[in-house]
Amino acid sequence: MSIRRLIASVAAGALVAAVSFTAIAQDVDPAIASMTPEQKVEAREAAMKQNGGLMKNAGGLTGADAVANADKIIQNFTNFPALFSEDTSAVKSEAKPEIWANFDAFTALFAKAAEGAKAMRAAAEAGDATAYGAAMKTIGGVCGECHQQYRSE
Ligand code: HEC
Repeated sequence: MSIRRLIASVAAGALVAAVSFTAIAQDVDPAIASMTPEQKVEAREAAMKQNGGLMKNAGGLTGADAVANADKIIQNFTNFPALFSEDTSAVKSEAKPEIWANFDAFTALFAKAAEGAKAMRAAAEAGDATAYGAAMKTIGGVCGECHQQYRSE
């Protein structure tokens, strides 16, 4: 292989790597498919808690740190519908049975929160503090909206 072709193929490889990295942040974690219902409940409670910490930190971050923080929030919101699969309804948790009676409406709230986190990420990339703050507020509103309906005290 000539040096030039080698460089071209390495560059193409880097491009593929970059594209698949972006895709990972928006795909449901494939590990969830092989989890037991108990493991899903444990994982979703940990991810909810992690989101709380990430949201708390978000206000003090800018630039690449804010983007990385938003990526983790997006990933968690992307995973949640699978972590609340119907087979987890029999496991003891704070999840109300209304979740599985209204699963589309329930998961729509995760999609809304994920959209908010994507807006937050875009605002961080653009260095737009006003839009960043607005997106944080939107996400915070969805946390409360969902807990009020679907989480028991
Ligand atoms: C679409 C619904 C929904 C959204 C949106 C949502 N949550 Fe939750 N959250 C739940 C449910 C349901 C539970 C109970 C889960 C369980 O006990 O297995 C929960 C549990 C939690 C817990 C307790 C976890 C534990 O240790 O048991 C925390 C903390 C939490 N959520 C934080 C957040 C934050 C912060 C946000 C927003 C950034 C958020 N949640 C968004 C539905 C939601």
